[in-house]
Amino acid sequence: MNQLILSDWLLRHLTQHAFPSRMPNHRRVYEAIRRAITEQVLPSGSRLPSTRNLATDLNVSRNTILAAFDQLLDEGYVAAKTGSGTYVVYKQTDDFVKNLTVNAPLESTSTHGLSKRGLAASESPESQLNSHEVQPFTPGEDDYSRFPIALWRRLLSRHWRALNPALLDSSHDGGYLPLRKSIADYLRVSRAVNLTLDQVIITSGTQQSIDLCARLLSDHNDCAWVENPCYWSARRVLEVNGLKLHPVNVDNEGMAPTTYDFRIKPRLIYTTPSHQYPKGVVMSYGRRRLILDYAQNSNAWVIEDDYDSEFRFEGRPISSLQGMDQHGRVIYLGTFSKVMYPGIRLGYMVVPPQLVSAFKNGLYELQRPGQVMIQAALADFIQEGHFASHIRRLRQTYGERRRLLQLALKPIASVGARLSMVDSGLHLVVEFDQAIDDVAVAQTASNIGLRVYPLSNYGFGENCEKGLIIGYAYAATEKITHYGKLLAEVIQTTLKTN
Ligand SMILES: Cc1ncc(COP(=O)(O)O)c(C=O)c1O
Repeated sequence: MNQLILSDWLLRHLTQHAFPSRMPNHRRVYEAIRRAITEQVLPSGSRLPSTRNLATDLNVSRNTILAAFDQLLDEGYVAAKTGSGTYVVYKQTDDFVKNLTVNAPLESTSTHGLSKRGLAASESPESQLNSHEVQPFTPGEDDYSRFPIALWRRLLSRHWRALNPALLDSSHDGGYLPLRKSIADYLRVSRAVNLTLDQVIITSGTQQSIDLCARLLSDHNDCAWVENPCYWSARRVLEVNGLKLHPVNVDNEGMAPTTYDFRIKPRLIYTTPSHQYPKGVVMSYGRRRLILDYAQNSNAWVIEDDYDSEFRFEGRPISSLQGMDQHGRVIYLGTFSKVMYPGIRLGYMVVPPQLVSAFKNGLYELQRPGQVMIQAALADFIQEGHFASHIRRLRQTYGERRRLLQLALKPIASVGARLSMVDSGLHLVVEFDQAIDDVAVAQTASNIGLRVYPLSNYGFGENCEKGLIIGYAYAATEKITHYGKLLAEVIQTTLKTN
């Protein structure tokens, strides 16, 4: 643990705990450290800070710390290693843990004291697999090595040198104006979004945009229609905001509501019409009209997540749903995570005119947006034409990777697996028959260093679709055929034995 955090923890304990008034200082310090150890703030194996540093941080003499350490040593909580420091060696025994379980209220042991909302927010579908390590085919990972770092550094330092104090402030009016203007121009031309500059609001990515929509446009227990299967993180953030999710199946024309679905009136409709996540289908014109008309008639808001439309490898770009909306029911969301890098945490929303002021105020009050310096560098990146040429380069690279991977995976057709041939995005989907355990297939692939996600993690209910989501943006072009063949073998072997 970081020394300052530990010192803060100890100081808090020393000031808040009601020690007997005559207890000497070294005994208090000993008690505080012992508690840090038994409560696993300092787990077994952690190194204690040096006595000198700790004495300074806790504002006591070094002798006080030495005496406390001596007692911890005597009682076996810590051990000294010559020349390397003092380490925690104390381990909780099973009995101790069992006692805790018996005495503590049920909730605090099973949930670590988290609220229901906190539990929902902290559950991760990927925890079913064995690591979070990035491997070839990890969906959602881009090839950061393609990012023009030297150029980006130059643009950033240009603004740091000019040091305009306004760029150090948090952002008050929906974001840095020149960036909003660049985004507005880009969306008008490339995505046929219908907008004025005022409607563009910068956020820290799609995740935050969806969160803001949920908080500002819905109340607890309202219904949200989501696609089935659905982008995991959208689902998560809507649920955590107290919305009841109603999954609507996706067919080859996108979200496909039935008469049954139409009876379950939503407040929000979350959809990915340009490239359904994860299956990749494009919503047809008819479905777009249907969703927009239904939203208008039932007073619902449509959240259009247009997360990767920059990566369309063939054919004409697909226009946004927002561009067809005549009643101001669509909130359009975009992100810089895919084209720039995910850690940039910048995205944008285009909100209908009647919501502009509420969203700007809501964003400021709830989330205090900032990063204006980075917004300024990004505005330059777009205005000077780097954004367009970077997209062109990425499209070429990712398009080639996609083609090679599709070729390498062709043999899986022999065991009945179906490979999506959609020509956009950064991942492919392989579909299996219902009986196949896709989590097990993903685990087998992960065991040989190929991380793919099971499609069923994104579905709802018992009978969710089975398959794999395979990202190809991260794997190096010269290795992708090799990795693709390995993955094809895993799929063929596991499907044959099923
Ligand atoms: C469907 C979808 N929407 C949005 C995003 C990007 O989200 P963010 O802008 O929060 O990084 C992703 C990233 O993988 C995605 O798959």
